[in-house]
Amino acid sequence: MAAFCDAAGETAMNTYIGIDLGTSGAKFLLVASDGSILAENTQTYSVDYPQSGWSEQSPALWYDAAIAGLKQLLHGQDKSAVKGISFGGQMHGLVVLDENDSIIRPAILWNDGRTEKETAYLNEHIGKETLSAYTGNIAFAGFTAPKILWMRENEPQNFARIAKICLPKDYLAYKLSGSFCTDFSDASGMLLLDVKNRRWSAEMCKICHISESMLPKLYESYETVGYLKEEIAKELGLPASVKIIAGAGDNAAAAVGTGVVGEGGCNISLGTSGTLFVSSKQYAEDRVNALHSFCHADGGWHLMGCILSAASCNAWWSDQILQSNDYGKEQQGLEEELGKNSVYFLPYLMGERSPHNDVNARGAFIGMRPDTTRGQMTLAVLEGVGFALRDCLEAAKANGVRVEKTKLCGGGAKSPLWQKIIANVMHMPVEIPQTEQGPSYGGAMLAMVGCGEYPSVAEAAKKIVRVKKTVLPDEKIADAYDKKYAAFRKFYPALKDVFKEI
Ligand code: XUL
Repeated sequence: MAAFCDAAGETAMNTYIGIDLGTSGAKFLLVASDGSILAENTQTYSVDYPQSGWSEQSPALWYDAAIAGLKQLLHGQDKSAVKGISFGGQMHGLVVLDENDSIIRPAILWNDGRTEKETAYLNEHIGKETLSAYTGNIAFAGFTAPKILWMRENEPQNFARIAKICLPKDYLAYKLSGSFCTDFSDASGMLLLDVKNRRWSAEMCKICHISESMLPKLYESYETVGYLKEEIAKELGLPASVKIIAGAGDNAAAAVGTGVVGEGGCNISLGTSGTLFVSSKQYAEDRVNALHSFCHADGGWHLMGCILSAASCNAWWSDQILQSNDYGKEQQGLEEELGKNSVYFLPYLMGERSPHNDVNARGAFIGMRPDTTRGQMTLAVLEGVGFALRDCLEAAKANGVRVEKTKLCGGGAKSPLWQKIIANVMHMPVEIPQTEQGPSYGGAMLAMVGCGEYPSVAEAAKKIVRVKKTVLPDEKIADAYDKKYAAFRKFYPALKDVFKEI
């Protein structure tokens, strides 16, 4: 850990900035080299839903948010101590630039479901086995490759203008540094990367009618890609020596931030999406076609299940339906009901990725009676997200993965009730890290490694990630949840055809 003397003769530490470029907003963290958080800031922006199941955002919003967020983050801080900036970014979003670097169309986001036809073409015509051989993965509707095919079919004029294709955080890194780059973890979600060999797949580029020269240069997440542009450094009052480090997809960055690196660690994230992330030193394909097999930000790999709506289900239910943003109040007293609720909720508000890969799936409440209460429905929403994540855990088990405990992060992880639900539905201890801001904290840690503060991501995690508390499952409640989960598993197959019809 490096330190230097400031003007007052006090020993000051180098500092690092982590940016979590999320879906509903961007979070900025200023972190000292010993892992302590010095400042944080959030800038929100909106998502456009131009048609049912579509989800878009203007990349210009990300850059504007970054400049505003960094200015506020650095206000009153020692700017000369800042050494590096890195990212965790929403994954899979298609960002397309023309030869003048102008944005061709709004980014098509990770939870956009317009590519049913293209996904089916890839999985059925090209074939799941061939895709797996090229990339380690099958096609899911939110991945980038099917979106490229959609653009070619539906917006041929836009498609013809494409000079550069990148992911959301890579667009921001390009604007900040002038370096057109990506990292292996985020690139994995494009379905254009040969995940096992950590290189672009020439075959997938051909299938998507693009050339490899349109794609960014590949880096490990902890590698330096360039320096902050001089004019931006000036505007922010930062030294021109500030390094930009590649960063990672938000889930890999969150795993770094919660210390899930190396072999067999597990992190569950309750953000807009929900993910179950298992780290590994070895590459492994998913044998059941429900999970993603991606590169990790520590130089290894991971298996990940992603549900498209997690904390967003609670936000939808509380903010929009109950018209109440006091989540704590809505959840008060519900602990008594754990394992007893007879109401179920299917959390497929945006369709579902893992394990169903179905853009037509929709949300549903099941099992209400005249005496059903507001509280039981609130609990059902939280439990439904838990059961959908249990589906991901079962898919991981079907791959031979054994997980004994998990970290928990993301906005939803702040709820003590949800922590208990996850521990009991998953039947395992849940560790709550000191810092719940997974992706931005992980981003700052990647910047530390890129600037030589720690020799590796694993070493940084060992030195600075701390667990705040552990929530244990209660055998009686966990057994009750096993029974409820058995019922939950039957609902999607029973409703699948109806979802398609409606
Ligand atoms: C992961 C995924 C989401 C987004 C959310 O595959 O699509 O978790 O990364 O930002």
